[in-house]
Amino acid sequence: MSSSNLARIRKAVRYDVRNLVYPFLHPRYLLQGIFLFNGNRILRHPSARLIKDGGRLQFGCFWDVWKGKGGIVLHEGACLRIKGNVVIGDGVIIEVHAGATLEIGAETFINPNARVIALESIRIGAECAVAWDVQIMDGDRHFFLDANGSPEKNTAPIEIGDHVWIGARSLILKGTRVEDDAVIGAGSVVSGRVAAGTVVAGNPAVALREGVRWTK
Ligand SMILES: CC(C)(COP(=O)(O)OP(=O)(O)OC[C@H]1O[C@@H](n2cnc3c(N)ncnc32)[C@H](O)[C@@H]1OP(=O)(O)O)[C@@H](O)C(=O)NCCC(=O)NCCS
Repeated sequence: MSSSNLARIRKAVRYDVRNLVYPFLHPRYLLQGIFLFNGNRILRHPSARLIKDGGRLQFGCFWDVWKGKGGIVLHEGACLRIKGNVVIGDGVIIEVHAGATLEIGAETFINPNARVIALESIRIGAECAVAWDVQIMDGDRHFFLDANGSPEKNTAPIEIGDHVWIGARSLILKGTRVEDDAVIGAGSVVSGRVAAGTVVAGNPAVALREGVRWTK
């Protein structure tokens, strides 16, 4: 096995010791340069063909150590601050990356399978309702390069006020500021500012109603 393949295995092991074993459970694939991590399998009908023209196929990567379950990952120097009673649903994934902060206010709930990724700073206020499958991320993860080939800044803080309702499957992007009592319609893509008491929806989210009041 090449040293770069060994390095890949080592990297996966760092996230989950069981990954040391998984690829060896499928020696036939391993010999073909196919690495199955995290218990992922290939179900192949005897008549089906799997052709790999050189290189390496890695399946089950990007350290989903949770295997479909939720979890909280706090990286070096990260800070997660929970202010009072907070309910987080099954399957929610929270990542606070190195040096980043995430704050969640009292009486806020986050429904199952939502994902909150803090690379710089995310604040979710008190009494908010975050629906199923919502994604809140204050960075893009990949970079644009400037004229000198240096990566541009790709994070900006997210501020979500108090008593904000974020509808199912919405996506809250970096730099978003949602003011108190606002409502985000289901499936919306939000960036920029959402004024207090405003209902926005769509992609990109636009205002539907203003001056609303809502209750859980
Ligand atoms: C945002 C929402 C609350 C607005 O409800 P409403 O004020 O009763 O709005 P209406 O249903 O009267 O729709 C008004 C208009 O906005 C549009 N609209 C409403 N929600 C929308 C959405 N999520 N995306 C795009 N357009 C939307 C409607 O198509 C309608 O357009 P039209 O006037 O051209 O016909 C609601 O549509 C919604 O998204 N609910 C989902 C909430 C949710 O995810 N709950 C999970 C529990 S935590």
